[in-house]
Amino acid sequence: MAKTLESTVALVTGASSGIGDATARALAGHGARVAIVARRGDRLAALAARIQADGGEALALEADVTDEARARDAVERTVAKFGRLDTVVNNAGVMLLGPIVGADVSEWQRMLDLNVAGLMYVTNAALPHLLRAADSDPRKVADLVNVSSVAGRAARVGAGVYNASKFAVGAFSESLRQEVTKRHVRVSLIEPGFVDTELRSHNRPEIQEQLVAQLAAEPLQADDIADAIAYVVTRARHVAINEVLIRPTEQER
Ligand SMILES: NC(=O)c1ccc[n+]([C@@H]2O[C@H](COP(=O)([O-])OP(=O)(O)OC[C@H]3O[C@@H](n4cnc5c(N)ncnc54)[C@H](OP(=O)(O)O)[C@@H]3O)[C@@H](O)[C@H]2O)c1
Repeated sequence: MAKTLESTVALVTGASSGIGDATARALAGHGARVAIVARRGDRLAALAARIQADGGEALALEADVTDEARARDAVERTVAKFGRLDTVVNNAGVMLLGPIVGADVSEWQRMLDLNVAGLMYVTNAALPHLLRAADSDPRKVADLVNVSSVAGRAARVGAGVYNASKFAVGAFSESLRQEVTKRHVRVSLIEPGFVDTELRSHNRPEIQEQLVAQLAAEPLQADDIADAIAYVVTRARHVAINEVLIRPTEQER
């Protein structure tokens, strides 16, 4: 039996670890050829080998998507190699927490550059290809999935700029959804709660200690989010899952 994403092409940013790695494997499992994008080339090579060993096809693209030219180049190299682009998962992100008072603004810059500008650069480069895929066989629909967070729905003390970056992802996604949905490009927002990944490890040690105290005993795993993303992008053409909020059962807020 043909797989749901057979003859389609997906691009996943932030695929060198966590949710992006799991999502690339999940989409390949549904038959998509996948371009995997991040800065750590060794991790991407290992993931590409794993996907290929499982019978899939992967293209590793080492790129920093905060650089607009590199983001565009990753999209164009995907289309040059595979001939089309049907699914984009804008997953690359960084979460640097702490009070706003006395903050190191270079941390704010890193979050805004990646979580907001990088996501917009990839989207801008991908849209002409997604619109073309949405107009062609086999599926006549294309998907742009933006990974936001619970932090994109409610602001909390100590997360102000991360919240701001993810609220921006929500606003951008909803505006774009209205713009392109009649052309059958579905724009979806994924909003995870705590997921067991490397994300927290980029924080200063004192912040990491506070985060450990807040962690659910049973956090989500990256595969749980990959499942949700795979669900979103394998729906029939007339079904658009606009938003998925997914928390560990024990997470209250
Ligand atoms: N984990 C959670 O609890 C959680 C909850 C809600 C939302 N999220 C969101 O989920 C997404 C994925 O995070 P994760 O939890 O899987 O964390 P992660 O394991 O730290 O993954 C982040 C990914 O982003 C990539 N990345 C970082 N800077 C980049 C750049 N400049 N250009 C290209 N890629 C870059 C990293 O790869 P390189 O370092 O190799 O570039 C890595 O592959 C993020 O948007 C995050 O905000 C996570």
